[in-house]
Amino acid sequence: MSKELLISASILSADFAQLGNEIRKCEEAGVDMIHIDVMDGHFVPNITIGLCIVEAVRKITTLPIDTHLMIENPWEYVEKFADSGSDYISVHAECYGQRRKECRGYGEYPKEVDQIDMEKIRKDIIKIKNKNAKAFVVLNPGTPMCLTDLVDDMDGALMMSVNPGFAGQKFNPAALGKIAELRAIFDGDISIDGGINEQTAPEAVKAGANILATASYFFGADNPKQAVEYLKSLR
Ligand code: DX5
Ligand code: ZN
Repeated sequence: MSKELLISASILSADFAQLGNEIRKCEEAGVDMIHIDVMDGHFVPNITIGLCIVEAVRKITTLPIDTHLMIENPWEYVEKFADSGSDYISVHAECYGQRRKECRGYGEYPKEVDQIDMEKIRKDIIKIKNKNAKAFVVLNPGTPMCLTDLVDDMDGALMMSVNPGFAGQKFNPAALGKIAELRAIFDGDISIDGGINEQTAPEAVKAGANILATASYFFGADNPKQAVEYLKSLR
């Protein structure tokens, strides 16, 4: 694969009482971007980080900020997250289609769809691009590949290899087939997020991913620089 392999360190596993030092650790280890997991307690069963943390991180690093929005109604927030300093903004496809019956209600997870409203998602892709940020569309493990009509619109896709909500979960290989399918027709970035480690990263890269997001593997490493070097060597 000709694309450079990029590592996006998710601060979900960082020590938030030491956030400045943790961002420095990312820089010193050679990561390519900082992944910020924004969760609202509705789209996923957890609440994490909002605009003020993105602004704070923006002030202390020149690394690109890769904001993963796990929120209902992302259209209300994409421009605000761009203004706060995000360079990449990922919105979930599951916010743009009729949810499956089993996950339509409050507190029913994971959210999944079979198809999405292209006009609706294109509007948000354009909003993100107009702010000079890169627009990515995310699929949960149970959502099928439904992005083929967006290959000329989106800058990238992000495949979840865990159900979103928490760091440290087991890798779900459902992402791999979708990555390979999309890679065959899409030249842009394909990111994978969830359960990335020494065992799973090689398969993800082989399938066609060129951005690896990692929280627990990176922040749990005894030698974070070596961990990044290892992941980057998979290219
Ligand atoms: C999960 C988040 C992921 C998570 C990855 O909802 O979107 O970015 O932090 O954590 P690990 O790498 O530990 O699976
Ligand atoms: Zn994420």
